[in-house]
Amino acid sequence: MTARVISLGIQKGGCGKTTTAGILAYILTKDYHNKVLVIDMDSQGNQTEYLARCDIYEFDGKTVFEGLKMGDVRPFIVSIAPGLDLVPATDLLATFSYWLYHDGRSIYPEHEAMHLRALQKSIETVKDSYDYIIIDTPPHIGEQTLNALVASDYVVVMFESSKFCLSAVERFVETIEFVQGMTGQKLNPKLKVAGILRNLNDKRRTDMRDLIELCGEQYPDWIFRSVIDRTAATGRLALTGFDEVENKELRKAVEPYQDFIKELIERVG
Ligand SMILES: Nc1ncnc2c1ncn2[C@@H]1O[C@H](COP(=O)(O)OP(=O)(O)OP(=O)(O)O)[C@@H](O)[C@H]1O
Ligand SMILES: [Mg+2]
Repeated sequence: MTARVISLGIQKGGCGKTTTAGILAYILTKDYHNKVLVIDMDSQGNQTEYLARCDIYEFDGKTVFEGLKMGDVRPFIVSIAPGLDLVPATDLLATFSYWLYHDGRSIYPEHEAMHLRALQKSIETVKDSYDYIIIDTPPHIGEQTLNALVASDYVVVMFESSKFCLSAVERFVETIEFVQGMTGQKLNPKLKVAGILRNLNDKRRTDMRDLIELCGEQYPDWIFRSVIDRTAATGRLALTGFDEVENKELRKAVEPYQDFIKELIERVG
């Protein structure tokens, strides 16, 4: 097996990247019996908290940042559940860019954009051990997001139903094209847009419905047909967690993502 590497991204905060990546990883392991590795590339460590459900400081010195420095994430993989592993992140990942342009220059020199290939190199050793590698990205375009896109086969663009996010999608697509090499050097010509997920819809608001339709009109070939509504059970998942015994509303929280995940699997194989 060789893992399909999928990033979830958008350079805007609070669009559901972490929630969707966590639920996607859970369903791929639980319902589809895949082996999944989740990589937290956001120094907020939200995905780490979401899946590992502990104080993220427990992972200090044992995170994706150390993996990037070594060029191999293997020593920093944490088992979360059968079939589901995580490479955690803590606040110090925020110093990744500084490190790349200082100490990291001997390992990842800027020429040939090696500094944007740090994650690609660091997951090479684990690709044959998983069906999917899911990368959660931060809400900005910077070395963490660019490394994620360079390391990925597919990207899911997260659209939260707002005007700011619609313009963020437009610009995120430009970043994707930059990585694909359409506007410069060929960082990752293999990168494909798996789709745009229209997310966090509030069914009571017609303005959100209009924006969801507008996004569909602008990107008819890319949108997933399935739209994710805001639901209380999903919003509570960070509190209630992914343990079926402890969280009585777990299925209610994850079920709204089933159609999207079916579409995603059809697209990425
Ligand atoms: N389907 C949903 N229904 C209700 N609440 C949701 C849903 N999806 C996400 N949320 C909530 O919306 C907020 C933002 O979600 P999330 O943290 O996943 O976004 P993000 O894009 O990862 O944010 P950031 O850009 O800060 O990393 C969180 O409080 C989360 O619990
Ligand atoms: Mg997040």
